[in-house]
Amino acid sequence: MLKTAICDLFGIEHPIIQGGMVYLGTAELVSAVSNAGGLGIIGTGNSEPEWVRQQIRLTKQRTSKPFGVNIMLMSPFVREVIEVVLEEEVAVVTTGAGNPAVYIPRFKQAGIKVMPVVASVALAIRLEQAGADAIVAEGMESGGEIGETTTIVLVPQVVDSVRIPVVAAGGIGDGRGLATALALGAQGVQMGTRFVCSDECIAHPRYKEKILKAADRSTVVTGQSVGNAMRCLQNKLTRQFLELEETGATREELDLFGRGRLYLGLIEGDIDEGSLLSGQIAGLIKEIKPVRVIIEEMVAEAEAIIANLKNSYTED
Ligand SMILES: Cc1cc2nc3c(=O)[nH]c(=O)nc-3n(C[C@H](O)[C@H](O)[C@H](O)COP(=O)(O)O)c2cc1C
Repeated sequence: MLKTAICDLFGIEHPIIQGGMVYLGTAELVSAVSNAGGLGIIGTGNSEPEWVRQQIRLTKQRTSKPFGVNIMLMSPFVREVIEVVLEEEVAVVTTGAGNPAVYIPRFKQAGIKVMPVVASVALAIRLEQAGADAIVAEGMESGGEIGETTTIVLVPQVVDSVRIPVVAAGGIGDGRGLATALALGAQGVQMGTRFVCSDECIAHPRYKEKILKAADRSTVVTGQSVGNAMRCLQNKLTRQFLELEETGATREELDLFGRGRLYLGLIEGDIDEGSLLSGQIAGLIKEIKPVRVIIEEMVAEAEAIIANLKNSYTED
């Protein structure tokens, strides 16, 4: 069995984490991942605290296994969401979009494990010092908000810079990705895009279908000109967005243009006007499957690869 320090830390069976995803990391997906032996994570985005509480309680009704909550540090409700997470005694917190150092002590006092998502070695080091239990090193292949370094470059450098377990994210979609992450020194993987194309994910079928049809170069990065880089599938919206950026639009103008587009794309399935967050790994995903199958196939494939690696050597 493929067990690592991440499994021991969180009390899970497989070193596979479903990254927090705005609108999509709901009780349905989160409980399915945790019930299948991974770690599901509720995506809170800019959601109101009571919605977060409801999702935590629904998830608890569906699974007795550990699960987490992803807190978006830029959310207008960040403080209230943190109170809800503390009150509801969630097992694990991950954070996106910023530096969560100031919040870590309160989580630790409450016995909640903290695993920030970072895109740089410097932030990984700072957050280990601030008390993080593990780190997700997320490469720029990922769907959603991204940094500047690829997973294969970032992960080993983070591994060499901290003592806490590291989880690799970005561009992982099957057992080959899991085996690679372990070879880079990570103790597990976090996936987003692969889990969007699961039966249990509430994403709109047209958006899932667009991921299935994607090729290796189907994503683009918007918002780079204003320091808010987001990777999504190319469509009418991204073309208009990039044109606006070329004309020198300000952050405020772009925010206004982008308002409401995520819900429109991910949940309402408007594949032209909506934003369709996706990683570059979309090109590899060809089938919508149950979460349990995704996880079990991935573990079996990684185990087989690791066991057979020596057979790929040629004789001297
Ligand atoms: C649709 C979608 C929504 C996401 N929303 C969030 C989010 O709200 N917070 C966050 O920290 N990361 C978010 N992410 C990033 C994922 O948690 C995960 O780290 C990333 O998808 C890994 O890369 P991959 O897409 O190549 O698997 C999102 C990713 C996707 C595809």
